[in-house]
Amino acid sequence: MPTFTGEQATQYDSRITRLVPGYELLHQLTNAQLKATLSDNAHILVVGAGTGKEVLALAALNPTWQFTAQDTSADMLAIAKQQFDEQGIASRVNIHNGPVNKLSVKADAVLCLLVMHFVQDNGDKKELLKAIKGSLKKDANLYIADLMRPETSFEREAQLTTCAQLGLTETGKTQTGHDLENEFYPLDRMRFSELLNECKFGIPKLYFKALGFSGYVV
Ligand SMILES: C[S@@+](CC[C@H](N)C(=O)[O-])C[C@H]1O[C@@H](n2cnc3c(N)ncnc32)[C@H](O)[C@@H]1O
Repeated sequence: MPTFTGEQATQYDSRITRLVPGYELLHQLTNAQLKATLSDNAHILVVGAGTGKEVLALAALNPTWQFTAQDTSADMLAIAKQQFDEQGIASRVNIHNGPVNKLSVKADAVLCLLVMHFVQDNGDKKELLKAIKGSLKKDANLYIADLMRPETSFEREAQLTTCAQLGLTETGKTQTGHDLENEFYPLDRMRFSELLNECKFGIPKLYFKALGFSGYVV
């Protein structure tokens, strides 16, 4: 998996929109559902908060929401912190550099966007989902988006074509083709539902689909 340190962190914001078709829309649709469901005093846990994309947009959507921004990469969180300071929202965000199971928060919603596909299905995905479940209030929603196993033989190729149209260079395309096969741990829909069920979540509802990337609310 990528390390999300050094240049991978500093270049993240400029690269991700070329690597994930529909990246902005995924975030927009996720945030709109939080706006539709949460009260003004909500606390939102963002797992794999990265450079702060989710927190920054949600903080602008509601001026009283509070956040926990969790990530395992200190470099990604350092960029997030700088942006929170610049936007004047730092007092609303608790930053946590460490695993989810070390948090004591009970959130009104959890976001886990483009994170779990980097976690192996050897017990680690289950551990992460269990920790997320433990961080959610009863009946609160998890919004989770991941690269899934391809459903057609041509899906990955079409994804790379789309990335090129989004500005990915020829070298970047070759690298991304390699990464998609070797750096991710994608699940098919059956295994994804099974894992969620084992961690006491309900039935996942699909709200975003862009070739290999799916977003579910559960
Ligand atoms: C592709 S980025 C997504 C960042 C952000 N959610 C977004 O949509 O832009 C993946 C992030 O997940 C983090 N990450 C990877 N494994 C993780 C884990 N087990 N727990 C928490 N964060 C993790 C990485 O450090 C990185 O910041």
